Amino acid sequence: MDRELLRRTAEIASEYLTSLGERPVRASASLEELRSALRVALEDGSLPALQVIEELAAAAGPGLVGTQSPRYFGFVIGGALDAAIAADWLTSVWDQNAAGYPGGPAAAVVEEVACEWLLDILGLPDDAGVGLTTGCQMAHFTCLAAARHRMLANAGWDVEADGLFAAPPIRVLVGAKAHTTVFAALRMLGLGSRRVELVAADDQGRMHASELARLLSAGDGPAIVIAQAGEVNTGAIDAMAAITRLAREHGAWCHVDGAFGLWAAASPKLRVLVEGIAKADSWATDAHKWLNVPYDCGVAIVRDRTAHAAAMNSFVGAEYIPQPQHDERYQAEWVPEFSRRARGFAVYAALRELGRGGVAALVERCCGCARLMAEELARDPRATVLNDVVLNQVLVRFACNGANLTDEVIDAVQREGTSWMSGTEWEGEPAMRISVCNWRTTEGDIRRSAAAILDQVGIVARGSGSLL
Ligand SMILES: Cc1ncc(COP(=O)(O)O)c(C=O)c1O
Repeated sequence: MDRELLRRTAEIASEYLTSLGERPVRASASLEELRSALRVALEDGSLPALQVIEELAAAAGPGLVGTQSPRYFGFVIGGALDAAIAADWLTSVWDQNAAGYPGGPAAAVVEEVACEWLLDILGLPDDAGVGLTTGCQMAHFTCLAAARHRMLANAGWDVEADGLFAAPPIRVLVGAKAHTTVFAALRMLGLGSRRVELVAADDQGRMHASELARLLSAGDGPAIVIAQAGEVNTGAIDAMAAITRLAREHGAWCHVDGAFGLWAAASPKLRVLVEGIAKADSWATDAHKWLNVPYDCGVAIVRDRTAHAAAMNSFVGAEYIPQPQHDERYQAEWVPEFSRRARGFAVYAALRELGRGGVAALVERCCGCARLMAEELARDPRATVLNDVVLNQVLVRFACNGANLTDEVIDAVQREGTSWMSGTEWEGEPAMRISVCNWRTTEGDIRRSAAAILDQVGIVARGSGSLL
């Protein structure tokens, strides 16, 4: 390996990270510009690796969104911690096949330890099965496959062997404001996205527990209840204690979408928001959101290890694979993939860099920043904060003389470049979503971003002729 290549790559990376504070958060290049910069002729011959990297970095640079910036508030996208980035580099250099222990003993043990730490930090059962997936969607897939296994096994059906045709139907009860990836996972599992029973939600997006109780009592047979900790727009958390109790009473499996909200459990101050969550049967979350591990890293956690492994294990009976001798970890037992990247290294590094207190402080700081953002914006009469800011999400609408200016404001804010946030529809009207989940974000970033947003509100309002 060319040492100069690694040195220069580190320099490019370091220049990028140090520029984050001041460079516009948005990407500056248009689609056409990116295509013409990147669609070069593919040569017959080879090129020096250093030249490939220099040219790639130069051409891609203008098309990068500063998701690592302290003032990036789009979607729900975490930053990346220093140790996690460095561990991620080493993961590529070491290039272990993390299907199982034989492909990389250290990768298996590091992942085993990281998973134990995750359970501990999140206050979940210490003997639960844990798999590191590409993201939360595949974590849902994994957890719901385990749920499907257990619910059908209880009804005398072996779904892994016999498939779903002629299997007893499984009822699936989902909050009306469930995330789109829940439905994608259900679709891929043959449980269908349209046949679910939607449980009505309140004005913050929380499933009504009383409605869940009514629906559960109105039917019978195997059932899966899908609750949510952290609605993607509002951050609202379902009434976990009531929902997990109802699921138990009705013999249903309770799965939780805790893509980001599950991290409240890591904070002694915020834990109360998710009280009762540990009584669920499975939990899907992301390390690439609030733990600030680089993409891609989701986490699937299943109380019933036997169901988890039965649904996922892809190496049993494969003659060419050495079967576990003792209790060494085979990562393929816990995730849909077989060969895959050794994601455990970055999770391990992130948890060690932060420590238990650091994870709690990160979550609390982001929530404090979200509250501050809501307060700063609410000073302007043209802004209406639409949600109770319980976590790290702020939902806000801008209007003037009855005209909803939100879409124009989002567009103007993105173009201006101080910060970046995305839009949504809430109660049929456009709204701006602000998500704070980056370790770099400070109160100063929030004040600076709020001021820049309100400046744009003024400009848009003047442009639309709807001055107050
Ligand atoms: C509540 C919720 N669930 C699931 C997901 C999907 O996560 P991923 O993109 O990691 O699959 C998200 C992403 O924002 C989310 O907010």
